[in-house]
Amino acid sequence: MLSAVREWLFGAGELAPHGFCLLWEPGLIWLYAVSDTVIALAYFSIPLALIVVGRRRSDLVFRPLLWLFAAFILLCGATHWLDVITLWTPLYGLQGLVKAATAFASIFTSFALWWALPRFLALPSAAQLRAANAELRASQEQLAHAQKMEALGQLTGGIAHDFNNLLQVITGSLGVIERLIARGRGEEIAPALASIKKASNTAASLISRMLSFSRRQTLLPRVIDPDKLVAGLEELLHRTLGPEIALDLRLADGRRSIVCDASQLESALLNLAINARDAMPEGGVLRIATADMRLDADELEPDMDPGDYVEIEVTDTGLGMSEDVLGRAFEPFFTTKRVGQGTGLGLSQIYGFVKQSGGFVRIASAPGEGTSVRIYLPAYELPADLVDEEEPSAERPELSSSGHRGKTLIVEDQAEVRSQIVGALHEMGCTVLEAGDGTAGLKIVESAAPLDLLITDVGLPGINGRQLAEAARGAQPDLPILFITGYADKSLETLRLGPNAEVLRKPFALDELVLKARTLLKQTASAQ
Ligand SMILES: Nc1ncnc2c1ncn2[C@@H]1O[C@H](COP(=O)(O)OP(=O)(O)O)[C@@H](O)[C@H]1O
Ligand SMILES: [Mg+2]
Repeated sequence: MLSAVREWLFGAGELAPHGFCLLWEPGLIWLYAVSDTVIALAYFSIPLALIVVGRRRSDLVFRPLLWLFAAFILLCGATHWLDVITLWTPLYGLQGLVKAATAFASIFTSFALWWALPRFLALPSAAQLRAANAELRASQEQLAHAQKMEALGQLTGGIAHDFNNLLQVITGSLGVIERLIARGRGEEIAPALASIKKASNTAASLISRMLSFSRRQTLLPRVIDPDKLVAGLEELLHRTLGPEIALDLRLADGRRSIVCDASQLESALLNLAINARDAMPEGGVLRIATADMRLDADELEPDMDPGDYVEIEVTDTGLGMSEDVLGRAFEPFFTTKRVGQGTGLGLSQIYGFVKQSGGFVRIASAPGEGTSVRIYLPAYELPADLVDEEEPSAERPELSSSGHRGKTLIVEDQAEVRSQIVGALHEMGCTVLEAGDGTAGLKIVESAAPLDLLITDVGLPGINGRQLAEAARGAQPDLPILFITGYADKSLETLRLGPNAEVLRKPFALDELVLKARTLLKQTASAQ
């Protein structure tokens, strides 16, 4: 049986080789032989190329069709190769079998091709893909623009709303004062004045938070031990959280210090505690933990430097945030709280302040699973036992008490502010020189030396306050300087205070200014 099959496939039997049909004419024989060999080789190379495509492009959607096509072409090649063989050897059985297999494969391939044709035609061309990509990019830009406008609208609306209310209080109170004075009841203006003061303080804190968010807050960084700072807040946190919420402090006694504005960090932690309290109306646990961390590039956002950080983590067991709220939590004026309960400026203040201090913030939260806010600040090399914990302390002398008088130059471009300061300095008994811009200030510094005190705004037309201070120190190295500033311009971000220098953030009360001026004057007097 087996030998019969072999005979049928390979046996020449009585059959003549194919060359017989070509009359063994060498020209014809070789024309056939060479042509079929070339066709066979070409056919064999095509499946090879298809195999390379199939292996490299694992994402191809037409893979089965690709293999089918490869098999079909391989069989076509084999047919042509057998055509060459049968010129000399009559393997017609085998040739027939290969032809049958080719026919089989060709039917499937052709069906499959027709079946897949609509999908082939639907495939985008490279040019179409480029156009689609461009369109997508344009619509993404449009969306980003719309979102930016939306955020700006929210910001502007938020400011407008809050300030309108404050201005209403101030305008209303001023009206009351005017009326009372007109009726000769000037001694009754105290409540109206108190309202104005309260509204102004609220406005000042609003502005301070907004400046924080925009990273334009004048920061007064110093080296602090984060554990001590958190521990120092314990009392206040207990009072803020109330009896229903347990406070769990886990301080690592970390060795590392940080350099940042302590009062801003305290207010950031307090804001987080208030958020946690609001999220735990039924009570719960607030945990504050500190840790020293080394963070590598792959754990950080691309704009952050790898290195040592101090992590302060504030975790609550409260309601948590939905994905939507989480995505917008850092936006200024974004709040889910009722009017009067939330300003939406808590997390935005923290975000801006931490960024401005060289760190970053992360939030993890899910509905029902509480919230964890982690603040990372760059660690400072100084060992913790060398940290200066003391706030610069000063007693509060009365505004009118006799102090140290001296020749004081005030440089401030806003005329009303300048005249208020001049008035207060006169009351202190100082000899006052004044200038409305940096250049005029410099002239006085150069001509009227020696001075006892320089008070200068930082952002000034002409040369700025810092440059003026440098010039003044050049002429008079020990000159005490009081900077007043309402906005940290990029160029002024690192306001390095030497000895004998202080900063007063706008808006300030005149007593604060007098206090600082007096302290600085006293230091010079005692140094002399
Ligand atoms: N600990 C928290 N748990 C749940 N939600 C929070 C928490 N902290 C903040 N949020 C959500 O983020 C919003 C913005 O917070 P924030 O900027 O502090 O503004 P505000 O507290 O004035 O609403 C909150 O209104 C609240 O929806
Ligand atoms: Mg808040």
